[in-house]
Amino acid sequence: MEAEKMDKIVSLCKRRGFVFQGSEIYGGLKGTWDLGPLGVALNNNIKREWWKMFVESREDMYGLDAAILMNAKAWEASGHVAGFVDPLVEDLETGERFRADHLLKDNGIEAEGLTLEQIDDKIAEHGIKSPKGNSLSKARTFNMMFETRIGATSGPEGQVYLRPETAGGIFVNFKNVVDSMSPKLPFGIAQIGKAFRNEIAPREFLFRVREFEQMEIEYFVRPNEWEEKFEDLRQAILAWCDHIGLKRENVKEYRVPDNDLAHYSKRTIDFEYNFPGKGFDELYGFAYRTDFDLRAHAMHSGVALEYVEADGTKVVPHVLEPSFGIGRTFVAVLAEAYREEEVNGEVRTFISLPVHLAPYRAAVSPLLKNKPELVAKAREVFMMLKKQFGNVAWDDNGNIGKRYRRQDEIGTPHCIVIDFETLGQEAAELKDTVTVRNRDTGTQERVQIAELAAYIAN
Ligand code: GAP
Repeated sequence: MEAEKMDKIVSLCKRRGFVFQGSEIYGGLKGTWDLGPLGVALNNNIKREWWKMFVESREDMYGLDAAILMNAKAWEASGHVAGFVDPLVEDLETGERFRADHLLKDNGIEAEGLTLEQIDDKIAEHGIKSPKGNSLSKARTFNMMFETRIGATSGPEGQVYLRPETAGGIFVNFKNVVDSMSPKLPFGIAQIGKAFRNEIAPREFLFRVREFEQMEIEYFVRPNEWEEKFEDLRQAILAWCDHIGLKRENVKEYRVPDNDLAHYSKRTIDFEYNFPGKGFDELYGFAYRTDFDLRAHAMHSGVALEYVEADGTKVVPHVLEPSFGIGRTFVAVLAEAYREEEVNGEVRTFISLPVHLAPYRAAVSPLLKNKPELVAKAREVFMMLKKQFGNVAWDDNGNIGKRYRRQDEIGTPHCIVIDFETLGQEAAELKDTVTVRNRDTGTQERVQIAELAAYIAN
């Protein structure tokens, strides 16, 4: 059932213009997806809400938008050139490559924190073959950073990487933000942007892709206050999950064991979501990165990355890092909101998205599209709401029932219909009222046009 639900969501995403396969007409490009008109709207709403909650509504957060291409030395300093690797095995017949830990997990074997030798031992012990039944090579590491070249140089000085996490741009701008904004410690720098990872095995729709977006915060604290602030941010992450409609029972915290921590982390909690057909898996990461990054960048760049306290004491702040993948948020939000119910023997599918995430807040229709007086009034109402909210749809295709079904499927909370009563042709007291139909309950109400904006605002 749950696997079927995921398939339905993926198919709805394609059919209704949320997500398309990347480079589809050329047979696609593995690990890339394109957002369609409604996907962009949902994605932007997620980003806007996150920015409002984590940056604009707080006094201790500063925004940043750093370049994707960075001096390669930054990734040497951060440890990514040497250590941002996944274990890889090859099918010895076909040359196909697989992530060794995924292959073990798919065979029911716990793979977390294993060394390459331990992976080889497990493969031998359990006689694990490639998915095509062939023998596998020894495990080796594979660096996931995409390499590219800058300018016309062919030497090593032209070598750069596409950033594998947005965090890097924040660390290298720590001093700029401190010098230009004089923040009070503790404070955070937040960034939303693209990240790139040459995943060996991209899979499961938007879950594991090669190009994705992250919303990240590096929160700088005094070394002795990291535990208290860790707890504050942990609660803030949970409040975010509530805000985007994820039920608490579908969100679980998983403390990553010490032998599986990223090279920079002393404590990490994964916030897992109960993805349909997959079960609990990582939605967000939340890491205590100590002073690893600021010290490493200071050492490699020769620039002091410190904070000067009011009494003149210099401190290298420690860092807490909540990291949110937008693609996984997108899937979790749709999965949580996806509903089916039977109406008169037919299945009605609707996405019960919170109003602040829905691609369209409302759709406006004339009851009949061949009655100019209805269309004129409906256009007037539509333009009024569109001016105020922007994300309002005009829908005059097919009959009203079909319009409702179509808007249900894309999560539009309210459908507004202008009929003869609106024009005052039925009963005088109904003049300048419209029908507003609720997506979740299917119920309809008469609302004064003058009160419409307030009615659909929340
Ligand atoms: N700066 C820390 C960091 O990047 P991470 O756990 O590697 O930590 C953070 O990534 C989040 O980014 C993940 O929890 C997930 O939401 C998202 N993410 C990571 N790799 C991804 C991929 N290949 N495809 C889609 N989302 C990904």
